Amino acid sequence: MADLSVSLAGLRLRNPVVLAAGTCGYVREAADAFDLGRIGAVTTKSITAEPRDGNAPWRIIDSPAGMLNAIGLANVGIERFVAEKLPTAAGLPCALIGSVAGHSVDEYLKVAEAFDARGEIGAIELNVSCPNTADGLQFGEHPDALRALLGEIRPRVRRKPLIVKLSPNVGDVVAMAAAAIAGGAQALVVANTFSAMAIDVETRAFRLSRGRGGLSGPGIHPIVVRMVHDVWRGPAREAGVPIIGLGGVTNWRDAAEFILAGATAVGMGTALFIDPRSPVRVVDGLAKWVERQGCRTVTELVGAARSAP
Ligand SMILES: Cc1cc2nc3c(=O)[nH]c(=O)nc-3n(C[C@H](O)[C@H](O)[C@H](O)COP(=O)(O)O)c2cc1C
Repeated sequence: MADLSVSLAGLRLRNPVVLAAGTCGYVREAADAFDLGRIGAVTTKSITAEPRDGNAPWRIIDSPAGMLNAIGLANVGIERFVAEKLPTAAGLPCALIGSVAGHSVDEYLKVAEAFDARGEIGAIELNVSCPNTADGLQFGEHPDALRALLGEIRPRVRRKPLIVKLSPNVGDVVAMAAAAIAGGAQALVVANTFSAMAIDVETRAFRLSRGRGGLSGPGIHPIVVRMVHDVWRGPAREAGVPIIGLGGVTNWRDAAEFILAGATAVGMGTALFIDPRSPVRVVDGLAKWVERQGCRTVTELVGAARSAP
């Protein structure tokens, strides 16, 4: 049998499949659909310092090749998360990645430090697609803002691997990846959702209450494959920083494509809304693919894409 295990900056995963932040509840909800012992990791929804109700409806709508969401980081806040949700991680048969969001450096710090102190959390993921209320700029869209954020967090979060989830809504995703690595990121997620909009042509109203939201699902997959490859060929391979490819994976082929482009692990989000059991099929398909490729381990195939003959 092929060895599908991978390492994310020291966090060992049984296989490369990771459930994406915000698409599988807090910790264990996906266990209603399948045995979490079959996948590599679950990512918590993004947790903020204070509880948040999120945006008014509509905050999820479908689109021809995926979905748009503007949830607005609805969550119970770090204190209730630690008291009520984290205990459900006892005996979790896969790794748990804690996702952190905030609107100031202090908010990120509060959640990241709380995660760093907890044994249940295997790695900390910074969702940097949030505006800083101090200047209105998104941390993940400006290299200086990202560097400043990591400059505060990295020295105070020392126990757990630090993952930065990049925003795709930038002119130069490679420059943002370089800034993240320079700031101490030990792994990267490429990427979050694409800024998007939908309008009801009869009522002329924006379909999402906030007007704009994030596009995810199969429609973004080829764009993210290109981004994963650019980031891997750019700063990530040289620095030995693993990438989690995330965007539009619905089957093992999509996951294999990310791996060939340079991803060590593969996230799944929107696919869970279509078929919550699809991650298990992706794992099984990857195992057969690795064997067909004549490899013993999946890591042999990371970045193994080549020019067309
Ligand atoms: C309903 C929904 C909620 C999401 N919530 C979060 C979140 O809390 N934090 C985060 O970093 N990303 C969040 N995301 C983005 C996903 O983690 C992922 O980056 C994105 O959906 C692209 O992957 P996919 O095409 O496989 O869905 C959310 C996506 C969806 C669809």
